[in-house]
Amino acid sequence: MGQWTKVCSLATLPEGACKTVECGTKVVAVFHNNGALNAIDDFCPHMGASLSGGHVEDGCVTCPWHAWRFRLTDGAWADNPRIRIGSYPTRVVDGVVEVEVE
Ligand code: FES
Repeated sequence: MGQWTKVCSLATLPEGACKTVECGTKVVAVFHNNGALNAIDDFCPHMGASLSGGHVEDGCVTCPWHAWRFRLTDGAWADNPRIRIGSYPTRVVDGVVEVEVE
């Protein structure tokens, strides 16, 4: 069981927005997309770009450097789902978005 980390108030993470949060040694990007809150590593395994500024479409974020695409729901690389980055549970408690990282 991991530790829940506060990200921000839900009011400051509107549909289409993304926030990052440090969770121990990780930086996690939390996306509000299609009514869901999805949290994945803010780190592209290709060359280390931040994914938080990437374009989101069809449930995937596109890395801003070389366009690798990752599914928001599970961190899988869209072109080869055997490769995946970390994805994490989210919840909202009293209007505050939280992410659980082990
Ligand atoms: S750093 Fe993300 S695709 Fe190259």
